[in-house]
Amino acid sequence: MASGLIRRAISGPKVAPAARLVATRLYASEAEAQKVEPKASESKNMRKFQIYRWNPDQPSVKPELEDYEINLKDCGPMVLDALIKIKNEIDPTLTFRRSCREGICGSCAMNIDGCNGLACLTKIPASATETMITPLPHMFVIKDLVVDMTNFYNQYKSIEPWLKRKSPSPNPGKEIPQSKKDRAKLDGMYECILCACCSTSCPSYWWNPESYLGPAALLHANRWIVDSRDEYTNERLEAINDEFKLYRCHTILNCARACPKGLNPGKQIQNIKSLESRGGV
Ligand code: SF4
Ligand code: SF4
Ligand code: FES
Repeated sequence: MASGLIRRAISGPKVAPAARLVATRLYASEAEAQKVEPKASESKNMRKFQIYRWNPDQPSVKPELEDYEINLKDCGPMVLDALIKIKNEIDPTLTFRRSCREGICGSCAMNIDGCNGLACLTKIPASATETMITPLPHMFVIKDLVVDMTNFYNQYKSIEPWLKRKSPSPNPGKEIPQSKKDRAKLDGMYECILCACCSTSCPSYWWNPESYLGPAALLHANRWIVDSRDEYTNERLEAINDEFKLYRCHTILNCARACPKGLNPGKQIQNIKSLESRGGV
């Protein structure tokens, strides 16, 4: 983004090093000088955050990166801690989603220094002097860091993410049992929290967000395809056996790199493709 768009908002007046030196010599006593020392060390802990801002109430104003400086000594270690501190203490208009604060709800997904991730699980980088935070890429922005997830959720809904049976339950009114071996087949999929970090890091999804289902929805499609209790396996395979819905995946594997839960949607997509090539199960 052009630097002309960046508004330097919150940082205080800059003091030239020479001016600071003169000022310290003017203190009458050592005690007074010591009062100033913490301020010098404070500056070492100051960290700049460049945060994407866009307000739908001012549609003619272009999006911009806004700078905020906070003292990391008074802040928790995670990027979400920094965002909450900025919102609470500097700018209450800053808008972002969060809920659980422990990597479970998936709502704090955003792009941090160029990588998608959960703000609550991403540590504020120790060595960098500044951190850039933008919304998930290639998504419509509702406000600031909040993106429109409607298309993403509709794609999830389209794979019918629930158990479908043709035969009556063996134990009416009770759960349908599953062997430990069959249950283990769901590992690597049931843990997905639908944060969209994978889909929004996938180049194929960027170019075909309406027609390609994307790694998250396809991971869930596979989750129900391999579930031993589901009796619509071939129908599920047929429903996504489509040039765009499934075969836009070119195994680039950005999705696996982006997943904050350590899942590999690309591998699950490969499983679907191999089942499709065999003509079902
Ligand atoms: S493996 Fe497929 S889904 Fe994952 S990033 Fe690559 S193209 Fe996208
Ligand atoms: S697979 Fe990982 S990155 Fe993708 S939606 Fe699920 S938890 Fe998020
Ligand atoms: S706040 Fe829930 S995953 Fe980050």
